[in-house]
Amino acid sequence: MSSPDRWLGRARSGISGLPLKRFRALATSPGMKPLDLTSRWILVTGASSGLGRELARVLARDYGANLLVVARRRDRLDELANELETKHGVSVRAITADLGEIAQVDRVFAEATLDTPLYGAILNAGITHFGNWDELGWAEYERMYALNVTSVVRMTTQLLPYLEQRRESGALMLVSSMAGLVPTPYQTAYSATKAFLVHYGCGLYHEMLPRGVSVTTFVPGGIRTEMTDGAAFNDLRSWLMPAERCAREAIRAFRDREYVYSPGFVYRWGSAMTRFLPQRFFIGRVADQYRRSLARNRSS
Ligand SMILES: NC(=O)c1ccc[n+]([C@@H]2O[C@H](COP(=O)([O-])OP(=O)(O)OC[C@H]3O[C@@H](n4cnc5c(N)ncnc54)[C@H](OP(=O)(O)O)[C@@H]3O)[C@@H](O)[C@H]2O)c1
Repeated sequence: MSSPDRWLGRARSGISGLPLKRFRALATSPGMKPLDLTSRWILVTGASSGLGRELARVLARDYGANLLVVARRRDRLDELANELETKHGVSVRAITADLGEIAQVDRVFAEATLDTPLYGAILNAGITHFGNWDELGWAEYERMYALNVTSVVRMTTQLLPYLEQRRESGALMLVSSMAGLVPTPYQTAYSATKAFLVHYGCGLYHEMLPRGVSVTTFVPGGIRTEMTDGAAFNDLRSWLMPAERCAREAIRAFRDREYVYSPGFVYRWGSAMTRFLPQRFFIGRVADQYRRSLARNRSS
């Protein structure tokens, strides 16, 4: 190869190849291959509706994964298991549990690992409160904290050593929210639980990377699910992403062992902008919009 050709070749790979790969490695987990999900067992919590149900569908349909699906509504889980087994030929086991109870979280882990070789888990179950902060009763707050935070920490504490011992380079994904990246008025306590998950997931990513397990934190913006079904969300509905699309992006991020991943260009752009705009200004606009949506839909 002549000298100019060599230089041209180097320049080309410089533009399109190596640096891009290096840049990508910063976002994913360097040194680890993407997950190979075919015929592997993945646990998905909160799979009876919304994002969790779509995550299960994408895992079965697009990746051929076997599933352990968890939630309280047994009929929904059985329906989903039947659908996925019939349509996609995968195996699905349903476990009914209230993950707001520690004993039930422990039971789920015990049942899930008894005779199923788990390769990964997506901790997705979560609830919110949309309204004034002081309309959230104490019992409701405790329920939200127990599910969104305590159950995730408890399950993670059991899952990570298990996945590490299996030496298969398995993976965990925590479903947080954009509300965990930026404080979100009128979902104030929820936003704080999701911020916990962002810090928890990012810390674990670095601790577990050298130990051969990837931890991805997924931070979606608004999604069209039962969570956002209520009238209070009426004015915000045009911002909501279809759950199926969100799930496809989530599983790609899980497979590629991303660090923190936000689905949808608009949300990714929005979260980048929050780093440049004064936070009080940006959150003030969110607060105005939420306040209006709540007021309008209360009086209608
Ligand atoms: N929707 C959004 O705009 C949005 C935005 C960002 C992040 N997220 C996050 O995405 C995740 C999924 O939410 P979603 O929007 O799909 O809401 P969803 O449709 O209401 O689904 C919530 C899931 O969690 C399960 N769940 C609720 N309480 C439970 C409990 N005590 N024990 C076990 N399972 C329980 C529900 O099943 P059962 O009722 O059958 O138990 C259901 O399967 C949540 O972590 C949420 O914070 C949602």
